[in-house]
This record gives sequence, structure tokens and C-alpha cells, in this order.
Amino acid sequence: MLLRSFSCLLVLFVATAPLVALAQDEVTPAQRARDALIVKTLQRLPGVDLSQKPEAKAALLRHLATIAGSDEFLVLVDKFQLRDTKDELLRLAREQSDSTLGVKAAGLLVKFGEQELLAKAIADPDPAKGAKLITALGLLSDAQTNDLLAPLVHSAEQPLAIRAAAVAAIGRNAPGQKWLLETVEAKKLAADLSFAAANVLLASPDDAIRSAAGKHLSLPAGAGGEPLPPIAELVKRSGDAARGQQLFATTGTCAKCHKVRGEGKDVGPDLSEIGTKLSPEALYLSILDPSAGVSFDYESWLLRTLDGTVLTGIIVSQTEDVVTLKTAEAIVHQIARDDIEQMKKSPQSIMPADLQKQLKAQDLVDIVAYLATLKKQS
Ligand code: HEC
Repeated sequence: MLLRSFSCLLVLFVATAPLVALAQDEVTPAQRARDALIVKTLQRLPGVDLSQKPEAKAALLRHLATIAGSDEFLVLVDKFQLRDTKDELLRLAREQSDSTLGVKAAGLLVKFGEQELLAKAIADPDPAKGAKLITALGLLSDAQTNDLLAPLVHSAEQPLAIRAAAVAAIGRNAPGQKWLLETVEAKKLAADLSFAAANVLLASPDDAIRSAAGKHLSLPAGAGGEPLPPIAELVKRSGDAARGQQLFATTGTCAKCHKVRGEGKDVGPDLSEIGTKLSPEALYLSILDPSAGVSFDYESWLLRTLDGTVLTGIIVSQTEDVVTLKTAEAIVHQIARDDIEQMKKSPQSIMPADLQKQLKAQDLVDIVAYLATLKKQS
């Protein structure tokens, strides 16, 4: 009797043991080889019920800890319905939101019914993190996720980054496009989501959706007044990176705010490794809809002094006495707290939303081709 309840406890413990508890260095190479063999055998057996096989499950979890973040990890989690790997799945979905691995991880969380966990993770204090998870969910192109994301589109409390990511995600599946179009037609879409909605609806494979959306929405015009094609179209074109580098420093005005390998001003983030951080699609989005992607460190603020001066820019630092603000022109102002009448966060990025006005579609393609070459040097 005692033995039975003990083994029951053991089963319970193994079933709920978090992956992290299985530190790799506790496992000897011989054990590791044995575990891999057990896992191989398990995979061959049809209809294995792991709840009846605590030792096999322990071997499987130990094996998983050694291959976390790989495709095999996801295959095993799926095959054996290992719901207790959800934290690792969430990490993958967030950190690799636009790769097959991250999207598959997000798919497993949906499959396991982890909607509550997903909603909580989307509500992360850093909207950029929440938006990444939404991107992974969108790339699943599974209408099931629309129920989770649609309320975000309408929630005025959500930051633009989250609402815009939700529009983009919903717009990746056919029922979602229909819902978005109806929302637009009913004039229920917030104005700051126009770009996100136009970008998906005007790229719809469905002619009827494209033409109905065209009555309400348009994409911003490039140089010469021609509306730019949707991003889905731009990413298919090939660009000339050398020409893009020139445009970055000249017509594009990008170097007025961004440093690349030591050149340029540092109002916005250094872009020396941006090709590693962002996919071409995300690069276009950063340029065409900058306010939808403002990261924590670059929020823009509006500051009014007692004498009526209004400054907008990024807060570089603040002390009890002084606030240091950098404007879009890279001018640094130090303002005594005593002189400040009002300090307000602005929802607009200080990166101008109309940079593309100076650029033809091909110029933009060339700039993105250039940015995509800026990879981390290892
Ligand atoms: C007036 C300043 C300014 C100009 C001009 C400007 N940017 Fe930016 N850019 C910013 C700021 C500030 C951010 C960070 C906050 C945000 O995303 O809005 C940013 C963000 C970005 C990002 C995202 C970076 C990241 O790490 O996620 C990219 C990519 C980018 N800019 C590219 C460009 C390109 C290409 C141009 C020229 C066509 C350009 N920027 C022009 C200020 C500027």
C-alpha cells in the first residue's frame, strides 16, 4: 500500500516536473544515450500512454531538455502531447516569431488550449514582446486564433503595436480578412490601423475583398504620387543593396537618425545588425508604419515648458532635477524639472510616417535589400 502511494507520487512528480528542473549537467553521457534510445523506441510504438510509463516519460523529458529549441523537440512534444513544455513553447514562439520553429510552437500552444497563457503573454508590459507572439499566431494562418486576437483590435487600452499586430495576424486568413473588411465598412476601425488593414486587405488573394477594401482604404503614396504596393508584393521584388546604401544616406534621410557601423546620427536605434533582428517584411513595416512598432526605449515624449516651448523627442535620461531629451534632429536638450509644465508620452514615433513620399517603390526595395545585408558579424 505504502509502495503504491509512493509510486503514485512519483508519477505525479514526473508528470508535472518542469523542463528546467532537468538540468543537462545532471545527466551523464551514458544516461543521455540511453534516453535517446528510449525515445526512439517510444516513437515507434503506436498509441503510447505516457501516464502509465513514468520512467519513459522522465527519459523523454530529459531528452527534450537536451534538444530544446529544435524541430525534433516540437515533433516529440506534439506526438506525446507534452503540455508541461508550455513555457518553452512560449519562449520559442516569442523569440522566433517569424520562423517555422516559432510558428509551430505557437500552433502547439493553440492546440493544447493554452489561450489563457497566450492572452497573458500578449499583455506583457513590453508591447514589442506581445506583438511578436501575435505575429507568430498570425503566421499560423489559422482562423481559430481570430477569437483571441479580434478583441485586441477594438481595445482602446491596447498600444498601437499590439492592435496593429492583431490586424496583420487576423488578415492572414480568409475569415479574418472578411471580418476586417466588415469592420472597415462599418467604420469601426481606428484610424491608426488604416495602414495595417490596407496592407493585408489590398494584398488579399480574393478579388472581391481587394476591390471592396479599395473603396475605403489605400496605401501611402511613394515619390510621384503612386500608391505603394502592399508589403506582401514588395518582399517578392529583388533589390540592389549598393543603391540602397546610397539612398539610406541621401534621399531616404535614414542616416539622419540611424547609425550603421559608426556612420550616421543616433536618434533611433543602431541598425548595424538589423538584418539579423528583422525579416524583410518587418523591415518594410518599420519604415512604412513606424508608430506601430515603437520599442520601449524609443517612445517619444512631448514636453511643454513653463515659457510655452514645446519639444518632442526621446528621453535619453532623467534625474531628479533634469530631463534630457533628444529631438528628431539629434539635438539634445536639458530641461530643468522646475521649468516643465507638462510631460506626455506621444503615441507617434519620432520616425516620420511619410518617409516613403521621397521614395519610389524600387528605392524602398533597394533600401530594404541593403538593410537585410546588415547581419551580426560572428
Ligand atoms: C527622425 C528620425 C528618423 C528617421 C529620419 C528615420 N528613422 Fe528609423 N527609427 C527612428 C526611431 C526613433 C526608431 C525607433 C522607434 C520606432 O520604431 O519608431 C526607428 C526605428 C527604425 C527601425 C526599427 C529598428 C528596430 O530595431 O526595430 C528601422 C528598420 C528603421 N527605423 C529604418 C529606417 C529607415 C530605412 C529610414 C529611412 C528611410 C529611417 N528609419 C528613418 C527614427 C528615424
